[in-house]
Amino acid sequence: MTTSSNPPNSVTPDQTSGMWGGRFSEATDAFVAEFTASVQFDQRFYKQDIAGSIAHATMLAKVGVLTEAERDDIIEGLSTIRSEIEAGTFEWRIDLEDVHMNIESRLTQRIGITGKKLHTGRSRNDQVATDIRLYLRDEIDDILKLLERLQKGLLGLAAKNINTIMPGFTHLQTAQPVTFGHHLLAWFEMLVRDSERLQDCRKRVNRLPLGSAALAGTTYPIDRAYTAELLGFEAVCENSLDAVSDRDFAIEFNAAASLIMMHLSRMSEELILWTSAQFKFVNIPDRFCTGSSIMPQKKNPDVPELIRGKSGRVFGDLISLLTLMKGQPLAYNKDNQEDKEPLFDAIDTVRGSLMAFADMIPALVPNIEIMREAALRGFSTATDLADYLVKKGVAFRDAHEIVGKAVALGVAEEKDLSELTLEQLQQFSDLITADVFDKALTLEASVNARDHIGGTSPKQVEAAIARAHTRLEQLYA
Ligand code: ARG
Repeated sequence: MTTSSNPPNSVTPDQTSGMWGGRFSEATDAFVAEFTASVQFDQRFYKQDIAGSIAHATMLAKVGVLTEAERDDIIEGLSTIRSEIEAGTFEWRIDLEDVHMNIESRLTQRIGITGKKLHTGRSRNDQVATDIRLYLRDEIDDILKLLERLQKGLLGLAAKNINTIMPGFTHLQTAQPVTFGHHLLAWFEMLVRDSERLQDCRKRVNRLPLGSAALAGTTYPIDRAYTAELLGFEAVCENSLDAVSDRDFAIEFNAAASLIMMHLSRMSEELILWTSAQFKFVNIPDRFCTGSSIMPQKKNPDVPELIRGKSGRVFGDLISLLTLMKGQPLAYNKDNQEDKEPLFDAIDTVRGSLMAFADMIPALVPNIEIMREAALRGFSTATDLADYLVKKGVAFRDAHEIVGKAVALGVAEEKDLSELTLEQLQQFSDLITADVFDKALTLEASVNARDHIGGTSPKQVEAAIARAHTRLEQLYA
């Protein structure tokens, strides 16, 4: 989480409260000023704050609350301030509490009394709600691009491994042979849902709170639809009390981010297992790994391990926001200032993790022979032998029993079913004939037989990859 250390260029509280001094008979306590400030972390969305203010001023001029000259002064002043911030020359002041008052105060300093008119018909309550939505919308769009890149990487790797056979697991015990391409497509599907969830969440983020003012709306003849259009919002928030108060859109984002991290964590767990000396299914190139300071032989899968670890903090960010919201009466409460750090942390973590995965996936090198040998161990074609007997008229439960005995022999002889002789197999059922090896016991026979939509056969995986490319085009159209 972002620390509360002072931002560069900040000054210590000077105990003036220029923005509301009228009602107060003493200055804010220096510690309280610092404790209640948010500029340390909300300066992150200065760009969105300025864009929101420019749209607000443009709307105020359209409805005649500001003159065109006033509007132009405000827009020019705000654009200059944006350049100052980007050049690092802007002086962020803790005593001015947050990004909104820092920018507004500087505007008045630059353009004089017109700067004080910008806040007409607006409150920081609808201003901050607008800023966060604009900021989150931009971040969602970036995250979607990362998801798309990762998904394309998975499809590329899957296409190279349509015929690569590995053991599929249930209970982490060898179950049935699958193709590596099929396994990678399972990861792809998880990310499709993650992307759909984010896109769905974006619709509810993309609503304009501005115009709600402090809580009840404003007495000026504002044109909210126009402001919404200027800022690219799909619609306005319908109720002013709700608009300044709820942060469910941020909670929803953190939930979607948590599911992305949960998926990345599961993929990480498999990569960590697969790169171990016990599995050796996959190599992660050195540039994604680190060594040990004491054990010269070590090459650690740090990137997946770290991502597995980082999933926890994003789940924490989700719980933080849910807890933040649950006890709040309508409308705005200062509690909501605490919405930012858990949201920012989730954004940063999911972005970094997706970036690492998108870079790493195309670079993975499967050890095709080792995967194949692992699939040959562990009786992965036992179900195929049972299915073979069923197709010759044996009831499935009886077939299960027969194959169980054959497996027991294999265990005793330390041989896979395909390594037993025909005579050995026939002692369990005289329905077993020489075709059993090609039809049931080889790895190819096993995967080829699962030849329906969603199945692991190379033919199906190839078709699934082709469909996936079309689906990606639709998803990111
Ligand atoms: N910094 C505040 C926040 O992040 C801005 C809104 C403050 N509004 C108020 N009435 N104190 O929520």
